[in-house]
Amino acid sequence: MPILALEDVLPNTVASQDIYESNKSKMPLLRKGTVITAEYLYGLRRRGIEGLHVKEALYTDEDGFVISRPAKKRDTSLAGMPFEKSRAPILPKTRREIIKGLRNLHLAIGGRDKDSVVMSINQLADLIADIVEGMLENPENPINITTLQSDQEFVYHHCLSVAVMSLATGQAMGLSTYELMQLGRCAVLHDLGKFMLPPDILLKTDPLTPEEEDLMRTHSELGYDSLKLWNVCTENERMAIFSHHERLNGSGYPDGLEGDKIPLWGRIIAVSEVYDVMTNTPPPVLPTSPGKASEYLLAHSGFFFDTEVVQAFHKRIEFYPLGSFVLLSDGQFALVTNSKNSLRPILRVLGINTEIDLNEPRFQGTSVVRIVSYREALNRRR
Ligand SMILES: [Fe+2]
Repeated sequence: MPILALEDVLPNTVASQDIYESNKSKMPLLRKGTVITAEYLYGLRRRGIEGLHVKEALYTDEDGFVISRPAKKRDTSLAGMPFEKSRAPILPKTRREIIKGLRNLHLAIGGRDKDSVVMSINQLADLIADIVEGMLENPENPINITTLQSDQEFVYHHCLSVAVMSLATGQAMGLSTYELMQLGRCAVLHDLGKFMLPPDILLKTDPLTPEEEDLMRTHSELGYDSLKLWNVCTENERMAIFSHHERLNGSGYPDGLEGDKIPLWGRIIAVSEVYDVMTNTPPPVLPTSPGKASEYLLAHSGFFFDTEVVQAFHKRIEFYPLGSFVLLSDGQFALVTNSKNSLRPILRVLGINTEIDLNEPRFQGTSVVRIVSYREALNRRR
């Protein structure tokens, strides 16, 4: 019954003992016999688990096929292993509840049920308060929002991701708790106007026609008008929703506002919004890599985006979360094993099981193309 350091465990390994967070815990994090997925590995790393007993370890061969071989025995003293501690910004339960809350809000808007709309918005505000509290408790923790969502609920996940990233940015800019609560509330509702558009436009994966594009562009104004009509949210929150597609140089919509005329919260949401749209695109469009999206934001700061906001965003976002899989520019797939250098992480290349530090000069020519799902990483055919 070998013990492997967590960094040596690949997805699909079977746990041979219950895994506890601490000696005092009565409830195991994972039960004996559980097949440890990439998500579990990530969760275990977040909780500081450094190694575990495994039944057998599954590896990938050079052609990318999963093979099984007995795990190597390692020193049982795993203390001091160089594991990076990371932590997701929100608990899975909160994430699920926010997605459910947005779904309910969408339904209530469709049913023109004002009471349910107000109730859903209040419930979302409570959940946002939970996220803000968690962030304030752990102000140094990096924020990552990788979801790789591709289902019909993409817009809900987008709203949630934008809220989390906007809060992280606001926190880095020193906003007060009260301001963060309001920023989080308008950020999670920033695309509310889309819930009033025909579903076939919302779910369309082909490029929109010019007419559909025009209709889509009404969503920020629609959101503002509806919240005002229902007398929900403060005017500052509503204006953030109204202005989240405005650009510093006046090229945005709906009013072509310039510079400081765009409210700060609108400028914050704009950066998170663009980053999420670029990196979390639903199929068939392939998402842009976090590195390229970051370059886009930096290249357009002071032009489209507020420079201070872009800098704050970069301070807090973990672009390649620990435990995520990436496609490299040389066609290889790799697991992120250390993301301290946010845009040039340390990776374990699948198949050859070699660790590379993208920050080293010899890997200067290698870059991350995009984050991929675990399934795609293991099904690679190059
Ligand atoms: Fe939007």
